[in-house]
Amino acid sequence: MIFGFAAYSAAASDPTKTVGPNVCAECHKQEVAAWKGSHHFSTFRNMPRDLEASQIAKRMGVRRIKSESLCRDCHFTVQQKTTEQEAIAGISCESCHSPAKDWIKVHSSYSGKTAKTESKTEAQERWKQADSKGMIRPRAIYQLAKNCYGCHVVPREDLVNKGGHHAGSAFELVSWSQGEVRHNTWHSKGKENVPANAARKRMLYLVGLGVELETALRALSKATERKPYAFEMASRVDRARKLLAAAAKAAPNVPEISKIVEFSHSAGLKLNNESRLTAAADGISKLLERITETYDGSTMSGLDSFIPRPDKFKGAARTAADVSAPH
Ligand code: HEC
Ligand code: HEC
Ligand code: HEC
Ligand code: HEC
Repeated sequence: MIFGFAAYSAAASDPTKTVGPNVCAECHKQEVAAWKGSHHFSTFRNMPRDLEASQIAKRMGVRRIKSESLCRDCHFTVQQKTTEQEAIAGISCESCHSPAKDWIKVHSSYSGKTAKTESKTEAQERWKQADSKGMIRPRAIYQLAKNCYGCHVVPREDLVNKGGHHAGSAFELVSWSQGEVRHNTWHSKGKENVPANAARKRMLYLVGLGVELETALRALSKATERKPYAFEMASRVDRARKLLAAAAKAAPNVPEISKIVEFSHSAGLKLNNESRLTAAADGISKLLERITETYDGSTMSGLDSFIPRPDKFKGAARTAADVSAPH
């Protein structure tokens, strides 16, 4: 979806596989209700009416924000039923969990049985199939984070230098996922919007920072002008690797963190250095995958002092009271 940017897998970019949030709503009422309280939902209506939006669009030569891919692919969910591609919602379920056509049946099938009668092995096999068909589940922290950053750091130099769009959000994965975006109401059967526990927060913090670094290195590798975009991306790299160096010290039992920092210093933060910056980002990507396969956060208590507290969360999560209110 995003200009062939490496953050997106082929499956995640195919609008012919989008089913739309109304289909998820048939079963996921609580999660949909939480989403409807977020900016990801309201942007569908609000963004095209925004004065700033029309100014950016004009500078970029975009006449219809909802029907030209430049703005649409980050701000909306795109579906292609026949030949036309159409913006059908804001940033919705499949923007983060990936277009669902191939996995929607299998993920909810309980292997043809019920939640009670399906065996553990059958459930494992079912999830393996859903994963192989492209579903991005909550446990896939690295892929989830790449999706967030694929939109929240802008991979287009001209959109910033010429269009005047922000170069990216002041994004941090714990605080940005645990506020208005949080919708962990399924496995509690709608009783509670469960916050990430301490171990999961450590993983979100660490992997989020790693993806910040990876994404900013890739963005810088494509920059061509000594203008705000390149400076902004270089300063994102610098900030992320300082925070990661501090994390490496605080969690010496996770040697991958200092290797990530080393990679980030292996390429100069300058223009016309694409191959080395890309190689550094690729190395970091492999280490982040290894971290998510090897650790669950339980041994990383050294990171706790870095993790944003609830008063820093972006927006308010839907509360237990909202959740248990009858519909
Ligand atoms: C027919 C009902 C149904 C529909 C429609 C449906 N789901 Fe689900 N979903 C389920 C069930 C059942 C589970 C839990 C299975 C389990 O716990 O083993 C689930 C679980 C999930 C999970 C949690 C996975 C995990 O690892 O815990 C996610 C994410 C999810 N669904 C996303 C979606 C999205 C996105 C859509 C729309 C594209 C959707 N679902 C449509 C029934 C449905
Ligand atoms: C790479 C993804 C991406 C692209 C492409 C993109 N945007 Fe954005 N845009 C974002 C993100 C993410 C934000 C939220 C920034 C924040 O608040 O942290 C945003 C914010 C905005 C805002 C600020 C107000 C608001 O809605 O939050 C406007 C206006 C806007 N974009 C317009 C546009 C227009 C017009 C285009 C096309 C010319 C465009 N964007 C293309 C990702 C993108
Ligand atoms: C902005 C990205 C994003 C969007 C949009 C989004 N999800 Fe999620 N979803 C996530 C993340 C991240 C998690 C894991 C959250 C965590 O660890 O705190 C998750 C978790 C879930 C879970 C597991 C909940 C539980 O009880 O553990 C379900 C089910 C789910 N999402 C379904 C949906 C549905 C349905 C929609 C659309 C209404 C949706 N999601 C929209 C990112 C998103
Ligand atoms: C398809 C692109 C896309 C993806 C993927 C995405 N976002 Fe966003 N996000 C946006 C845009 C665009 C906005 C600005 C919406 C607006 O206000 O108009 C936004 C806004 C937000 C906001 C509200 C910010 C504010 O100013 O209050 C939060 C929080 C957020 N995103 C978190 C996340 C998290 C966490 C993830 C990953 C789990 C994620 N986003 C994935 C595009 C995306």
